[in-house]
Amino acid sequence: MMNTILNINSQELLLNRFPKSNDKNLQAWDSADEYVLQHIAELNLDSANILIINDTFGTLACALNAYTLHWQSDSHIAKCAVEQNLEDNQLTPNITFLDSLTLPATAPDIVLIKLPKSNAMLEQQLHQINQVMTPNTQVIGLAKAKDVHTSGLKLFQKYIGETTTSLAKKKSRLIFAKPTVSKFDDNAEKLVSWPLEGTEVTISNHAGVFANTQLDIGARLMLENIPNNLDDGYAIDLGCGNGVLGLMVAHENPQVTVRFTDESYMAVASARLNCENAFDDQDRFEFDWHDCLSNYDYDQADLIICNPPFHQLKTVTDHIAWQMFNDAFRTLKHGGKLRIVGNRHLGYHIKLQRIFDNCTTIASNSKFVILEATKP
Ligand SMILES: C[S@@+](CC[C@H](N)C(=O)[O-])C[C@H]1O[C@@H](n2cnc3c(N)ncnc32)[C@H](O)[C@@H]1O
Repeated sequence: MMNTILNINSQELLLNRFPKSNDKNLQAWDSADEYVLQHIAELNLDSANILIINDTFGTLACALNAYTLHWQSDSHIAKCAVEQNLEDNQLTPNITFLDSLTLPATAPDIVLIKLPKSNAMLEQQLHQINQVMTPNTQVIGLAKAKDVHTSGLKLFQKYIGETTTSLAKKKSRLIFAKPTVSKFDDNAEKLVSWPLEGTEVTISNHAGVFANTQLDIGARLMLENIPNNLDDGYAIDLGCGNGVLGLMVAHENPQVTVRFTDESYMAVASARLNCENAFDDQDRFEFDWHDCLSNYDYDQADLIICNPPFHQLKTVTDHIAWQMFNDAFRTLKHGGKLRIVGNRHLGYHIKLQRIFDNCTTIASNSKFVILEATKP
């Protein structure tokens, strides 16, 4: 396993992504993390209550372990990474973990927010900061310089106050916002809703959930090919996003229990909301914020449906798809089926053939293919 050492502010930290990887492109920190950590060191703080938002693999939590930390993330993988990295460095800070829809109970002295992947998510998070900041809170954004846009800076201005940016250093930039804006009294949860074509169902998404405002084109092909032959049993929507695939499994197979699972907290919360809106009987549904199916036993599920991700943050990678397919193999009953949708060029049939020793093409169009593998 490749170990990675970050030397910062007289500390030597052993930092890995989660899961650990030998791929040298998958480093656990970036130059924006280093920039903000140098900035914090220059403030010479004796003590501080720091709210850290979107710390991708726990670098900020590890390096700032001397302070009181509230650590908020939408990502279960990020939470696993910070736990792993704290343990590997034998660090036991005063840290409170928060999911992405929960605010800290106390006002922070400093907020560090790593810019998230979408402005929708940024807006929700700045709105949350607006709810807990005091005039003395220092709000600092950090990002690659190429990801700092006027639209994002305007959101800092709107929810926090006067906003300036630092010079770029190693292609990263810091954003400084002074809290002057009063508390917004509307709900911080920014939901987007849209009708699911051909059905009576309305799909709602929390900010930042995959395919935020419309149906993903891969998911569309899967919806035309949802299995409808299960008399009863147990199905899993793996990487459920807003739960659109699992909802249709539940609709087409009314006796089946459906479990929705995703590593994004807002995804699972969206799937739960969509089930509540679409069905009277909630006893059929279970929800799980987790990394793939690593917490599931052998031989449980009759059906797993999945539209696997092929990015981790901005890196194109197939390691999550591999993990999902291997976990699905373990979790399925003998005779149970994994049905997936993927871009043709990703070659998922090779992976399924290798793991399951069988793979059938159920449907395809010019871009996507639906594949099914049966656990022998
Ligand atoms: C391509 S999207 C599919 C979403 C939804 N099923 C659909 O078809 O619209 C992939 C989903 O996998 C989730 N995901 C990524 N890594 C994961 C992991 N390690 N464990 C569980 N879910 C993961 C993402 O958060 C995202 O919601």
